[in-house]
Amino acid sequence: AEDGYDLWLRYRPVEAPAAGAYRAAASELVVQGGSPTLAVARDELARGLSGMLGQAPPLAAAPGRDGTVILGTPAGSPLVARLNLPLEPLGPDGYLIRSVQVDGRPATVIAGNSDVGVLYGVFDFLRRMQTRQPVAGLEVAEAPKVKLRLLNHWDNLDRHVERGYSGQSIWDWWRLPDVRDPRYVDYARASASLGINGTVLNNVNAKADSLTAPYIAKAAAVADVLRPYGIKVYLSARFSAPIEIGGLKTADPLDPAVRAWWKAKADEIYRTIPDFGGFLVKANSEGQPGPQDYGRSHADGANMLAEAVAPHGGVVMWRAFVYSNEQPEDRIKQAYNEFVPLNGKFRDNVIVQVKNGPLDFQPREPFHPLFGATPKTPLMMEFQITKEYLGFSTHLVYQGPLYEETLAADTWRKGQGSTVAKVVDGSLFGHALTGMAGVANVGSDRNWSGSHFDQANWYAFGRLAWDPELSSRAIAQEWARMTFSNDPRFLEPVVGMMIASRETVVDYMTPLGLHHLMGEGHHYGPAPWVAGGPRADWTSVYFHRASPEGIGFDRMASGSNAVAQYAPEAGRALAADEKNLLWFHRVPWDQRVSSGRTLWDELVVRYTKGVEEVSAMRRTWASMKPYVDPQRHAEVAAYLAVQEQEAQWWRDACIAYFQTFSKRPLPAGYAPPA
Ligand code: GCU
Repeated sequence: AEDGYDLWLRYRPVEAPAAGAYRAAASELVVQGGSPTLAVARDELARGLSGMLGQAPPLAAAPGRDGTVILGTPAGSPLVARLNLPLEPLGPDGYLIRSVQVDGRPATVIAGNSDVGVLYGVFDFLRRMQTRQPVAGLEVAEAPKVKLRLLNHWDNLDRHVERGYSGQSIWDWWRLPDVRDPRYVDYARASASLGINGTVLNNVNAKADSLTAPYIAKAAAVADVLRPYGIKVYLSARFSAPIEIGGLKTADPLDPAVRAWWKAKADEIYRTIPDFGGFLVKANSEGQPGPQDYGRSHADGANMLAEAVAPHGGVVMWRAFVYSNEQPEDRIKQAYNEFVPLNGKFRDNVIVQVKNGPLDFQPREPFHPLFGATPKTPLMMEFQITKEYLGFSTHLVYQGPLYEETLAADTWRKGQGSTVAKVVDGSLFGHALTGMAGVANVGSDRNWSGSHFDQANWYAFGRLAWDPELSSRAIAQEWARMTFSNDPRFLEPVVGMMIASRETVVDYMTPLGLHHLMGEGHHYGPAPWVAGGPRADWTSVYFHRASPEGIGFDRMASGSNAVAQYAPEAGRALAADEKNLLWFHRVPWDQRVSSGRTLWDELVVRYTKGVEEVSAMRRTWASMKPYVDPQRHAEVAAYLAVQEQEAQWWRDACIAYFQTFSKRPLPAGYAPPA
């Protein structure tokens, strides 16, 4: 059935004449050297080729005909070693794919310095066939620009996934460690196909239980399954675990007994999981325990854990998503205020994990001002793949353009061109420890991600973690070809629709720099009226500040001055961009915007445009029926119908609500809310 389980690794038959050329280029396989990773590389190649070309080419001990595919590393394969390939500069995860002559016969070599590099090369080679690219005359050299390419599962031990919209957690903690769901293998294949090399198994709002012996054993079983695919297991650590499961009276990071406890805990974990990746920590944020409970800094907390994992080569990813409404300040300023003074105060194996924007995964936010502001402390990017504030998995929103917009943004911290991507890949300040994390949208749903198009967000995240400078359009093309069809009559409209879908959700939810208008708690649907409640910075009115005079959050010098957290050139550019208008400015309803309309009229026009764009997506998709299997076509169509209704709901709710302040009529030709 076309239920989406295969993701982008569908390997459906290739049509003539491409199939003939591919068969000629892959007539037999030679794999010298043996390891679990090489075995899965070989099996994946065989699986892909047999799916696409009708049969898997035979395995041979040595090249015996034209079109041999040779896999291996110089260390493990005399044949590869003999070719003297320039692998050195590509590092442990890089690979080469080259069309070569071996004993006078044409062959293709897929080589890495490590077996995992070979596996990545195999996926690349298959992708070329899946997307109908030539596989002759290849001169491919690839190396990831980012070291830690991680999924973060916000999965609880009871299998509920925080902000998960695709069923339960795939980690079946109850049946682990003895029962290893075959899904773990397919998860590993899909992730490794993108170069993802680590996964944090449990929620950042962590339970201390996950660090007890039984759960370590369960995590070890998962690690065993993922290991051949080059994927390391990490855990979220609860800061107060020494109290909760260690019987200590304190979790003070400067207390020797606490430090000893963490050291012993790390040793225990590494005895069971020798290649354990390390800890991810959410501390002193949204009520989570942390070092500040003891008057210590984030650096004190992070360094204590870092010291515990350092002898084993582990890392600590310390999150900068911190805020507290006890702070009178504009919430979005807090992370910068707390972490900039800690620049250079962290141990070498700590990396600070920063969300793409300073608020919380909105449809649009300016990039987080911490990027570029801590030259002596490496920062890693945290994107959200699961769409907490973007219509869950029901709304079709391709996030590639959102990721790309953030990565391409210029921090100006070392002059023009100091992009966020260059902070993240370490090149701006010369950091070797680099990373990108994506909050996973993977669950137990048959299609993994809750909707077919949300698979593209997993895909885009992984590709950008490999190379933060890739184009989101090129990634969408690739994904759509592999997942659906190589037919240009399908690709052009559908890729166009994917690219536009991000601006569309901005239009119907939060146009012109509005933010955090979503339903309280669950964050689904419009609720710009949310006020009161447990904390001001969870309300909508705190963020939009609508009144009869105008709307928007003044973050300029006249207001919270959050803009001053950016380099002056960057701050000026962000604040001048109409896309961020109401993020940075309070604007009177009658002020003219770039279209020549008043702000009020422009808001109505944008909301309406958002709805029209979703209707257009529906029509586009309806006309794609000839190119898509009926099951997936119908499922996507059903979701789009919901999205159209809900875009209308967003428009109507927001216009009706904001109109109670603006007290202005709708512009001519714009229908009032239904
Ligand atoms: C958001 C989200 C929470 C999550 C938090 C975080 O606020 O709503 O569910 O725990 O981000 O990133 O820690």
